[in-house]
Amino acid sequence: KQSPVIAPSILSADFARLGEDTSKALAAGGDWVHFDVMDNHYVPNLTMGPMVLKALRDYGVTKPIDVHLMVKPVDRIVPDFAKAGASLISFHPEASEHVDRTIGMIKDSGCQAGLVFNPATPLNWLDHVLDKLDLVLIMSVNPGFGGQKFIPEALEKLRRVRRLIDESGRAIRLEIDGGVTADNIGEIAAAGADTFVAGSAIFGTHDYATVISKMRAAIG
Ligand code: DX5
Ligand code: ZN
Repeated sequence: KQSPVIAPSILSADFARLGEDTSKALAAGGDWVHFDVMDNHYVPNLTMGPMVLKALRDYGVTKPIDVHLMVKPVDRIVPDFAKAGASLISFHPEASEHVDRTIGMIKDSGCQAGLVFNPATPLNWLDHVLDKLDLVLIMSVNPGFGGQKFIPEALEKLRRVRRLIDESGRAIRLEIDGGVTADNIGEIAAAGADTFVAGSAIFGTHDYATVISKMRAAIG
């Protein structure tokens, strides 16, 4: 298991002051920026694209930007995000025509690659590609919105993926996304996650540093 990463999801940041609010979450202890891309097609919401990511880089954000693509089709937008300054690009297998090809495209573009599992997406999508991935992302809500409640069945899924990753012997990160709070992050870490996305739990408070340090303490 790798050193824990806390990735504030800027879906819950103040979009009118995005650079400032993102920097504030990083200064408060956030390790990565989690960047949710929604297209009003694969998911019922519309957020931000490569131009916004590039603007964050130009503003001075240097920490890793973890792009979570909730878009269909996937491939067409991958090079644009890589050029804009993405560090890691994750996508949903159901949204890609050719999962192995998309993973290859992401890696060829110089980014790390992740595969995302919705609550009802079976883990056998990992069967032939696990070794090519840098990250597996387990959704603990249905994608589309921040502020939803953690679906507890995600814990068993984390345990299963933890075993698969350990058996592979590779340095693959296991990320959780949706409904993560300072109160449940301890059991999520115990189930095997090492990378934690949190949106409303961080941006919904006035003191980001206090929540983030509570989270870090609970991860252990
Ligand atoms: C949901 C997004 C999440 C979202 C999480 O589709 O993928 O990253 O921002 O928000 P919270 O932490 O509020 O559940
Ligand atoms: Zn996300």
